[in-house]
Order: sequence, then C-alpha cells, then structure tokens
Amino acid sequence: MRKVLVGLIAVLVLTGCGDPSPPAPPQTTTPAPSASSPAPTPSATPTSTPTPSGTATVTPPEPEPEPEPQPETGIESGPASSLQVLVNKRTPLSPADYQPELVAVSTSADRDGEAVRPEVDAALTELSAAMRADIGEGTHVFSSYRSYARQTELYNSYVAQYGQAEADTTSARPGHSEHQTGLSVDLMGTSGQCRLDTCFGDTAAGRWVAEHGWEHGFIVRYPDGLEGVTGYEYEPWHLRFVGVEVSTAMHQQGARTYEEFLGAGSAPDYR
Ligand code: DAL
Ligand code: ZN
Repeated sequence: MRKVLVGLIAVLVLTGCGDPSPPAPPQTTTPAPSASSPAPTPSATPTSTPTPSGTATVTPPEPEPEPEPQPETGIESGPASSLQVLVNKRTPLSPADYQPELVAVSTSADRDGEAVRPEVDAALTELSAAMRADIGEGTHVFSSYRSYARQTELYNSYVAQYGQAEADTTSARPGHSEHQTGLSVDLMGTSGQCRLDTCFGDTAAGRWVAEHGWEHGFIVRYPDGLEGVTGYEYEPWHLRFVGVEVSTAMHQQGARTYEEFLGAGSAPDYR
C-alpha cells in the first residue's frame, strides 16, 4: 500500500495535476517571492493626498477586519498531517514541502491524477452521492492535491499574467496552499456549469455544496466578502475538508470562516 502511495506521489510530482490554470501559459517565469517579501497590500500602506497648501495629509490604513469572537472550541488545528490543519497567508505549512498520504479521487474528475487524502475521498464520495440524490448531478473535481512544486508553477503563472498583487488575491504562494494538504478540492457539478467562476455559487450544485457540505465534513473555505479574513476572494468552488465534527460545530455556531472558528485571527496578507 505504501509503495502504491509513494508511486502515486511520484507520478503527481512528475506530471503535475489538474488545477485551475490561467487562460494562457506564462511566457516568462517570475521568481517565487520569499516569505520575507510580502505582497503589496494597499490597505496596509498609508496614502498621501496633496492639500491646497502643498502639504500632504496622511490617511491611516484601514483597520483589518477581525473575525467574530468565538467560544472556545477546544479544537487544535495541529500539524500539517492533521485533518484540522490551518493553512493561510499567515500560517504556512510546516514543513513547507509537506507531502500527504494520497489516494486517487474516485468520483468524477478531470483526469486520473486527481488525488486527495483517503478521508477526503470517502467523504467526497458520500457528498457527491447525496448531491446526486437531491439535485440529479454529482460533483466533478477539477483540482485537488498540488505539490509545492506544482503550486510554485501555478502561482508564478498567475503573477506573470496578472501581477503579484492580483495573483495574491486568488492564488496561494507555495507552502501556503491548502491544496498541498490533500484536504481541498476545486469542484463543480457534473453538468459542468460555471467551472472556476464565481457564478458557480448561484448554480444548483454551488448552492447545494454551500448548504450541505458541512453534513459531510466540508466547508466553503473562501466565502464571499470575507477576503479581509481569509486573504482570498470568493471561491465557491474551493471546498476544504475539516471533518464532520468541526464542520458541524461551525454550522451550529454560524462561523463563517475557519479563522473565525479557531479564533486564529485574520490572514489578509503575508505581513
Ligand atoms: N486558490 C487557493 C487560495 C489556493 O491557491 O490554494
Ligand atoms: Zn482551490
């Protein structure tokens, strides 16, 4: 079994895996930014406005939105191998090149190389079946586990196409992506509507996973309007597995983000 998994990881690292790529491949390569070179963050940079007298008025930066205080959960996010690991712009994976145990996604997916943690595949299979029973279509995964190397390629291609500030609103820097944990999937319904598009949130499949994902241990990780907490724009297609105990507690508490639930503080940028 171990040999099979090691082999699978090797195949994924060598071939890369399905993921949302920018429309065109980059023509130039952009060096991966280091953790010590934070992305430009307009909200954290004071701005100067010329006044009639010629002096400048300094506008203080907007305060960062803090998550709503939550009751003590007693849930630790734990190490990289934990199903509850917190990964965001301020909490990188440790070690940065962490590689999870993986199995192939057994439900509908772009290609054979799609892979997730075994617990995620089991839960996704149940979720997809429940969705099909309710609305007549199952899930289709178009991105899942991504290695550190693959995330580097993907992030750099976004930077080359859109610039770093824009790329940082939608693509995690290597070592900061939940996709590297094997706990996240990007999906749509098998009808194929609104792939990698915010309109997915308004489709039957998008509404279903937002409403019922928690019943199977999943959360929509980057909700609309909470970029100041999660660090990313709305991604109705990105589901994160946290386990049924946690997703149920989040649902019962009305926690909108994982940061909020853990009381971990906002992660709008890389500092
Ligand atoms: N799109 C998410 C934030 C990622 O790149 O992991
Ligand atoms: Zn994703």
